[in-house]
Amino acid sequence: MKNVHELVEKNTGLLAIMVLVVISFGALVEIVPLMYQKQTTEPVKGLEPYTALQLEGRDIYIREGCVGCHSQMIRPFRAETERYGHYSVAGESVWERPFLWGSKRTGPDLARVGGRYSDEWHRVHLINPRAVVPESNMPGFPWLAENTLDGELTAKKMKVFRDFGVPYTDEQIAGAKDAVKGKTEMQALIAYLQSLGTALK
Ligand code: HEC
Repeated sequence: MKNVHELVEKNTGLLAIMVLVVISFGALVEIVPLMYQKQTTEPVKGLEPYTALQLEGRDIYIREGCVGCHSQMIRPFRAETERYGHYSVAGESVWERPFLWGSKRTGPDLARVGGRYSDEWHRVHLINPRAVVPESNMPGFPWLAENTLDGELTAKKMKVFRDFGVPYTDEQIAGAKDAVKGKTEMQALIAYLQSLGTALK
C-alpha cells in the first residue's frame, strides 16, 4: 500500500493545510477550556466594578500613557510578591477592557498600588514626582489638577461595560453624571489608582 505520509509530504498544498489543522487543534485545546474555567471567567470575591469616578480615572490613565511605563501584572515570583504583594490573578481582570497589564516597567508595577499612599501623596507626586521622589524620572502631569470633568459620557461608558457583563445597576448608571461632574481629572485618576488591586491583598 502506498504510504499516506509520503503523499502528504510530497504535496506542499496538502501539507500546509494539514499543518494548519494540527496547529488550530492544538490552539483550541489550550484556549477553549480557559473560556469555561471559573478561575479565569469569574471575578474574585470582593471585586467591585469601578465607580463612575474611577472609570473616568482609568480613561485618563489610558490617555496619558501611564501604561507605557507602568505594568499592572505582578508575576508569581518571590522577587515580585515580596515587593508588590500577592501575584495578579485572572479573576481580578474579568471586567478589564482593555487590559492594562502592560509590558514595560520604567516605573514600578501598579497592580496593587491602591491604599499604598495617601491621596495627597498621589496629588503631589502626579503634579511633580520630584517633589516626593527626588531621583524620579517620571514626568509631571500638572494639568490634571486643572481640567474638570463634565460627565457627559460617563453613563454611556458604564452601559457599554454592562453589555460586556459588568454588573452596574440602573441607579449607578443614572447617578454617573452627578458623581463625576465638576471633579478634576486628578481626583478621578487618584480614585482609580486607590482602587487598584484592593479586592485581593
Ligand atoms: C516615563 C515613564 C513614566 C510615565 C509615563 C509615568 N510614570 Fe509613574 N513612575 C515612573 C517611575 C520611574 C516611577 C518611580 C519613581 C517615582 O516614584 O516617581 C514612577 C512611580 C509612580 C508611582 C508610585 C508607585 C510606587 O509604588 O511607588 C505611581 C502611583 C505612578 N508612577 C503613577 C503614574 C501615573 C498615574 C502615570 C500616568 C498619568 C504615570 N505614573 C506615568 C515612570 C513613569
